[in-house]
Amino acid sequence: MNAMPIFKLGQGGAGRVIIFPVFKDSFEQAHSGGLLASFLEKHEPRKRMGERGEVTWFYGHGEQPHYLFVGVGERSQNAAFRITEAAGTAGRAAEQEGLQSAVISFEALGKRKDEEEESFVAAWVEGWLLGTYAFDRYRSKKTHRSVTAILIEAERKESLAEAVRLGEIRAQGTMLARDLTNEPSNALTPLKFAERVREHFEGVEVSVDIKTGEELEHLGMAGLPAVGRGSINPPVFMDLRYCSDPAKPLTVLVGKGITFDTGGISLKRDNDISDMRMDMAGAAGVIGALSIIAARGIPANIAVLVAAAENVPDANALLPGEVLRYANGTTVQVGNTDSEGRLVLADALVYAGQIGAQRVVDMATLTYSCVGAIGSKLAGIWGDDRLVQAIRTAGEGVGEKLWQLPLVDEYEDYLKSDYADICNISRVGEAGAITAALFLRKFTSPSYKWAHIDMNGLKEASGCSGHLVIGATGYGARLLAEWVASDV
Ligand code: BES
Ligand code: ZN
Ligand code: ZN
Repeated sequence: MNAMPIFKLGQGGAGRVIIFPVFKDSFEQAHSGGLLASFLEKHEPRKRMGERGEVTWFYGHGEQPHYLFVGVGERSQNAAFRITEAAGTAGRAAEQEGLQSAVISFEALGKRKDEEEESFVAAWVEGWLLGTYAFDRYRSKKTHRSVTAILIEAERKESLAEAVRLGEIRAQGTMLARDLTNEPSNALTPLKFAERVREHFEGVEVSVDIKTGEELEHLGMAGLPAVGRGSINPPVFMDLRYCSDPAKPLTVLVGKGITFDTGGISLKRDNDISDMRMDMAGAAGVIGALSIIAARGIPANIAVLVAAAENVPDANALLPGEVLRYANGTTVQVGNTDSEGRLVLADALVYAGQIGAQRVVDMATLTYSCVGAIGSKLAGIWGDDRLVQAIRTAGEGVGEKLWQLPLVDEYEDYLKSDYADICNISRVGEAGAITAALFLRKFTSPSYKWAHIDMNGLKEASGCSGHLVIGATGYGARLLAEWVASDV
């Protein structure tokens, strides 16, 4: 592990570089006596410097400091997330220069209330850590983290220390999700996945129950053992609990944990399907969320359920046409073994009812059609309107956007089977993401409120931008932790 940057709070620290996040109108509002004003005495700002994502360097001679400006864009209501993005951009820029220390000034952001200051500090720390994250476990040459000391200019040192910690916690939960998602399938078989999770929560108020083998059948599970049948790496069901407030309703977060999706017997035909190692990004996201919730000590009553399996073809593998009988009595014709996500999630949704869930949110890299419908900047969300709205609001705050899609009753017919209650694929070549959600609905219980998130398009970033770096995004960890935290 490379040395993590250390964030300090204080004033007047000497750094080789002074970093200013700037709004579009920051330069008109600079006040005398400040760091920014002293910069403006010697330099002329460029017009574009405040644009979102813009990076501008002013290099100092000899002992003179360098100045780095990162654009935050318009002064909007979602400034904290923009700060997260800017911090990621700044972190990468400073690392590329090989600098060892940096001073961050929020002076150019204008007058702020204490609350806003705290959220900016947390957002900055979070964004910096996420933007300089690198998955380099398998590279001979490790990424060198040059910037190790970061001083955030602040008067209220003590009261902001908590904000620094909050930013670190949110970043760590997200990086956990990224680490798990980036792992190749040989390093993260279902069992190794569960062991990693157990190790992670050791010494934390989270209990980890790992169910394998015949236990799955004894629990009445149908989809998970069937999907995992073709692999030498057997399927695993994880039941993680965190209960710091038993008076709270039991909230269950369910994640699709397919450690590799070849499609099974209905084999995928693309040349490079190596990204299918990320078909457990939903599971990684809910685990990351739990990690944040537990580290923050949020008063909550949470169960995280992960259905983990490897979907591969083999003489033993699940065959198209087989019928599965679920614990809620529903029988399913397996029309296509590549629609495995919904098969394993169905077990978890039934299980959630059995353990007394009052709210259930499942998250999965479920369909390609969701990306076709709304693209890869938004996740699809279905289900109970109030629940959906609360999650979407949490998403706005952390920059993880969701768009609600309908559960169209009329499309239920598409899932009709000739010889079982339902089929796991639609007979009609349209609305694939909606029919997947309708399939899942069959396994929910009226005793709980339910929402389903299809985050296939957001599991991975193809380049570095803001707090995102190439590879897994850790999507959902901050989102769901924020939703749980906002639930008073
Ligand atoms: N894990 C995939 C979804 C997926 C597809 C992720 C492409 C990333 C890229 C899922 O299990 C799947 O295969 N879904 C199919 C369903 C189809 C066979 C009905 C899909 O979306 O194409
Ligand atoms: Zn699949
Ligand atoms: Zn899949």
